Amino acid sequence: MAKDKTIFTCTECGGTSPRWLGKCPACGAWNTLIEQVAEAGPGKNRLSAPQGYAGLAHAQPVMPLAAIEAQDVARTASGIDELDRVLGGGIVEGGVVLIGGDPGIGKSTLLLQAMDALQRAGLPTLYVTGEESGAQVALRSRRLGIEGSQVQLLAEIQLEKILATVDATQPAVVVIDSIQTTYSDQLTSAPGSVAQVRECAAHLTRMAKGTGIAVILVGHVTKEGALAGPRVLEHMVDTVLYFEGDTHSQFRLVRAIKNRFGAVNEIGVFAMTEKGLKGVSNPSAIFLSQHSEPVPGSCVMVTLEGTRPMLVEIQALVDSAGPSPRRLSVGLDKDRLAMLLAVLHRHAGVACMDQDVFVNAVGGVRISEPAADLAVMLSITSSLRGKALPRGFLAFGEVGLAGEVRPAPRGQERLKEAAKLGFSVAVVPKANAPKKPIEGLTIHAVERVEEAMDVVRGL
Ligand code: TYD
Ligand code: MG
Repeated sequence: MAKDKTIFTCTECGGTSPRWLGKCPACGAWNTLIEQVAEAGPGKNRLSAPQGYAGLAHAQPVMPLAAIEAQDVARTASGIDELDRVLGGGIVEGGVVLIGGDPGIGKSTLLLQAMDALQRAGLPTLYVTGEESGAQVALRSRRLGIEGSQVQLLAEIQLEKILATVDATQPAVVVIDSIQTTYSDQLTSAPGSVAQVRECAAHLTRMAKGTGIAVILVGHVTKEGALAGPRVLEHMVDTVLYFEGDTHSQFRLVRAIKNRFGAVNEIGVFAMTEKGLKGVSNPSAIFLSQHSEPVPGSCVMVTLEGTRPMLVEIQALVDSAGPSPRRLSVGLDKDRLAMLLAVLHRHAGVACMDQDVFVNAVGGVRISEPAADLAVMLSITSSLRGKALPRGFLAFGEVGLAGEVRPAPRGQERLKEAAKLGFSVAVVPKANAPKKPIEGLTIHAVERVEEAMDVVRGL
């Protein structure tokens, strides 16, 4: 195949250069030039026509929104309930899903299981592996107990060959494992580079939209937790799923970060077993550690991301520090921790200035909702004072800079779940206090951080 010409475009100013340069010749920014296939024809992207635009292209027909018939998207459930839940009901025809996560977390395992389930449901599937050989995938399938699977396998990393194979075999679903190993021979940059990832994803997305074939892209995640490659990948696709969880623990969460066909922030919960990933249909208690006696520095909260409430234990350790105290958080926002420490000091008189503060959400979950604030603060004070919170205690609520405790969405559901699991004392924002008492649960409604501290002291 003849190579198209490539040019280098600046991501800052849009300036171009025929070869790669460290510094953009137009705006002077460093390291902003990325390779692209040059558009055929001169001035194709230049829309500065002094005589009007009519000479550049034909006008296209428009119609009022009311005249367009809305169509429900056609979905096929994969049969893996927890995956279908995050997808918003199943795989959508022509939909493009990006699934990211740390190495070894279970992306390939989950997708192989899903493809096998879809294949057995009668949908032709194609699994393109660029990271492992066919033999390695076969080995995994044996482990999963699906060695007799009819899923079609292709070990290939060149985009043009992949597209030709898809065209020839006409599957309903294609998995590209992974987008970072795929490369197009139209570009000279190395596989995994921003230009390659972007170009390949764009081609595959166009193919999906044009043919109705669903495409699932596997993406790697950098150490900082961002999807490696450009953020544009997230904009291009319909659904972005992230794997969360600690590779050392058994549980894995799959979270929908973006979903054009379903609810965002929905969570699927899996357990990694000897025979692949198994859905956990009732996950509310899996992120609690089992202490035989209550210990200082631990406070349980109810988080509600997606549709299911889950109880998560927040742990804190406050310890005397050297000249520069450290603040470290795992699974919680570090900047928010600094803010909460300032609020604790200013409004509740709890000072940790000369202390190291570590906080952790148990089990490798990431909690992004501010409803965790109160539990973080209570676990910190509990550790600082060396005094455990009583058995069956929980707290949730957002804390503002003025020391006010703000309500969390759907407080009733959270409290009911806690009561169901045998929790007996709760400190919650005033606006979340239920009108009718919840059986077995004593509720302390607070408006300010100081109040919450007083309640806890008196327990
Ligand atoms: P994998 O799906 O290869 O991860 P990724 O594609 O995200 O890099 O998962 C690999 C891990 O899962 C590996 O450490 C082994 C473990 N595993 C099991 O525990 N049970 C199984 O049945 C399988 C297939 C893998
Ligand atoms: Mg893999």
